[in-house]
Amino acid sequence: MKVGIIGSGGREHALCETLSKSKKISKIYCFPGNAGTEKIARNISLDVDNFNTLKNFVISEKIELIIVGPEKPLVDGIVDFFESINIPIFGPNKFASQLEGSKIFTKKICEKYKIPTAKFGIFESKNEAKLFIKETKFPLVVKADGLAAGKGVYICESQKNASDAIEDIFNGKFGKAKNILIEEFLNGEEMSYFVISDGKDIKKFQTAQDHKRVGERDTGKNTGGMGAYSPSRLISESLDKKILDRIIYPTLSALKEMNCEYKGFLYAGLMIIKDEPFLIEYNVRMGDPECQTILPKLKSDFLEIILSCINKQLKTIKIEWYDINSLCIVLCSKGYPDQYKKNIIINNLDQINLDQNQKIYHAGTKKEKNGIISNGGRVLNFVNLSNTFQQARDKNIETIKKINWTEGFYRNDIGYKVID
Ligand code: AMP
Ligand code: GLY
Repeated sequence: MKVGIIGSGGREHALCETLSKSKKISKIYCFPGNAGTEKIARNISLDVDNFNTLKNFVISEKIELIIVGPEKPLVDGIVDFFESINIPIFGPNKFASQLEGSKIFTKKICEKYKIPTAKFGIFESKNEAKLFIKETKFPLVVKADGLAAGKGVYICESQKNASDAIEDIFNGKFGKAKNILIEEFLNGEEMSYFVISDGKDIKKFQTAQDHKRVGERDTGKNTGGMGAYSPSRLISESLDKKILDRIIYPTLSALKEMNCEYKGFLYAGLMIIKDEPFLIEYNVRMGDPECQTILPKLKSDFLEIILSCINKQLKTIKIEWYDINSLCIVLCSKGYPDQYKKNIIINNLDQINLDQNQKIYHAGTKKEKNGIISNGGRVLNFVNLSNTFQQARDKNIETIKKINWTEGFYRNDIGYKVID
């Protein structure tokens, strides 16, 4: 079977590598992929936003299944597009993708179905929003409604911060804004919770915790993710049941009532407060870097799982996992998440010998004539599977040191809450 993967990050390299283990796969194409996927797949650089161009390629190469990594094409309706021409594609359709594409869509579902989440208000003008922040308590959280590449969320400590955020959003920093979300600040510990769904049934797809802040001990600016570990230290049987019963199932039945079946990965970003789950946000895809920690633990054939979703047969399969701890450290280009240099050669990468419990997933890398160069802020993901998180972290740091990329930096403390 020929399979196409959309995306170019560490998540997509992990998807690609895990799929490549399936005996049924004859060829993988990545649109556009990175230097890591290039070793196992054919990288195709074309404009992924142009579904027609993609379609022509998919048809000419007889690609039989498309798997979508990032949120943007999902929110833009790539699934509806390919389903309308009967090409199997794994991911939620445009309607369902509003769970990530519109925070207000999700909040309204939470309100109607009493899904636990931060208290919130929706405001349609600067004035309305500014009046509200005059008479409320801080900290509070101001959010743009639509996709903002992780940047549309402001945690505000003062009226001044909140007022600036309102200005940014209504002035169009994240695209034209009709309204704005202001919500209560939840003080707890975050957890990423994943399920996979075929539209009829769901199966759990592990938990993780990621580190979004750039600095040690979770300080400094927000990033796409500096590292993660799986499973989450917070998960227990009783918490798991609360998450499913109060958050995941009500959301999926809400969509059903709107005539929408959810197919794909669903990632709930949760805040856990005294063992009680609150929904912060939904993502309609796997997390990055959570995916890089989760997929190496998968014992079952990944392609079979995805095909069972496409055929609405998820119920009939068993998803098996290795019972092991997994931890990922992201090596970034110095300066990230602000200005960073690009096109810097990474020596030594091919000289590293990895055992079966160690992976290097590429993110912002590109193969050039003279070797592999960085072309993004997050460059490489080091993942280790071990009996303890401590060992997994130590092994990753050992490998990073072998690469000795002086233009890079990483966090030494990934998993500190569970290790130190
Ligand atoms: P989001 O894009 O909605 O996930 O927000 C990005 C990050 O902002 C989350 O991962 C949290 O760390 C933080 N955040 C968002 N909403 C809240 C909230 N209501 N209370 C506390 N932190 C929040
Ligand atoms: N790890 C955060 C995300 O994928 O959105």
